[in-house]
Amino acid sequence: MEAEAARRAAGIYPVDILEDDPERLWEAGLAYYATLRERVRSSSEVFSLPTGEQVKLEDSSVCFCTVHRDEPQHKILVLVNPQDTKTVVAVYIKGCWWSTEDVLRTSDPAREGLMKVQSFGERIVLFILNVIIFGRLERNLDDDDMFFLPHSVKEQAKILWRNGAAVGFYTTKMKGGLCGDGTGACYALPVFDTVFVRRRHRRQGLGLAMLRDFCETFKGDEALGVSSPISPAMYRVCRKFLMSHPEERGRLWEVEPPGAWGQRVSIWLKIQLQHASLPN
Ligand SMILES: CC(C)(COP(=O)(O)OP(=O)(O)OC[C@H]1O[C@@H](n2cnc3c(N)ncnc32)[C@H](O)[C@@H]1OP(=O)(O)O)[C@@H](O)C(=O)NCCC(=O)NCCS
Repeated sequence: MEAEAARRAAGIYPVDILEDDPERLWEAGLAYYATLRERVRSSSEVFSLPTGEQVKLEDSSVCFCTVHRDEPQHKILVLVNPQDTKTVVAVYIKGCWWSTEDVLRTSDPAREGLMKVQSFGERIVLFILNVIIFGRLERNLDDDDMFFLPHSVKEQAKILWRNGAAVGFYTTKMKGGLCGDGTGACYALPVFDTVFVRRRHRRQGLGLAMLRDFCETFKGDEALGVSSPISPAMYRVCRKFLMSHPEERGRLWEVEPPGAWGQRVSIWLKIQLQHASLPN
């Protein structure tokens, strides 16, 4: 625990120091897990959450999570909340436990704005944002709110960094990339697939910035997709975007994979029809 406190005090976070070596991380996790199992049950070692709550470090409160849906060997050791064992509270990286919030932090000032996910450390950040933060902590579990599966190891993704922390992401399906449904079908156009902004950063134009970035990235393509179903909030983002970018109205389609003509609906047309059907 001392090493962890020292690193935090020095402003060092896992994404800045982790080598791009998933296998080594898994092996280190396995070795640590073995020591936990050997320890006497009365071990009093605990991990303190930023909230002050303490979680006992014992084999029953840790487990391995698969970071990618299609790569079973990319596993990280996580600590779960004993009161709610589906909620991950910390990740074991480089010999220390890091709270999920610390896993999302960076001390590298160059990490600012939208940045392509490249290293395994960034893939872990994407996983935490997607599966732990969006999937468990910031989703309306009572409503029928949508959630995304863990991403593929090959998923093209960008993380949105803001003031030293990851606050959102979006992912893209590439034109010509396999749909992954076992049929061998390939995407007919680039598709804006999953997007998320942390709750406390919403309504500050970040969703809009990510959609704009996607459209600018694929400037040369005649048609661009947004994966169906589009959430009500994302529809509103699209509406605001298309109101101020009339030149994009003919390019954006809501699509089912692989996005052939029969699987596309014009987003602008849908928005117009929805508006026309609203009472004055
Ligand atoms: C959808 C999402 C990414 C939008 O992110 P965001 O950063 O809050 O969006 P923006 O701030 O760029 O919104 C731009 C405009 O869209 C509209 N808008 C966005 N969210 C809205 C909401 N919940 N209610 C009403 N209007 C909304 C507003 O007009 C807003 O502009 P304004 O704040 O100046 O009025 C975010 O709500 C989210 O992560 N939701 C959960 C995941 C999700 O639904 N993903 C989409 C799957 S298709």
